[in-house]
Amino acid sequence: MTWFPLEDTAQMQDGYRKVFRLAGHHLLLLHHDGRSHLLDNICPHAGYPMDAGKVIDNHLRCPMHGYLFDLDNGNCLEGYEGPCSGVRVYALEERDGQLGVEL
Ligand code: FES
Repeated sequence: MTWFPLEDTAQMQDGYRKVFRLAGHHLLLLHHDGRSHLLDNICPHAGYPMDAGKVIDNHLRCPMHGYLFDLDNGNCLEGYEGPCSGVRVYALEERDGQLGVEL
């Protein structure tokens, strides 16, 4: 496992979004309602990037077909073509003022 710093914690304000490609992962870091979330930026439904998706309450809606994912656990809550697997979410960690992840 390797630690990857992603962003200064001071930058994490509501509306923040940034994508990363790290260690073979396509990641989306976002901040909403006072909380930061890191998840795969590839929708498990059909592989579309999710960084342009709309955040509703604590959920991210994929911009392609509108599937809805829980930002805390990645579960797919709503889909139109039957059940969908969830999106992977990652545990964020703060070290010396940096928010990051171990991959
Ligand atoms: S690619 Fe995301 S809902 Fe279809």
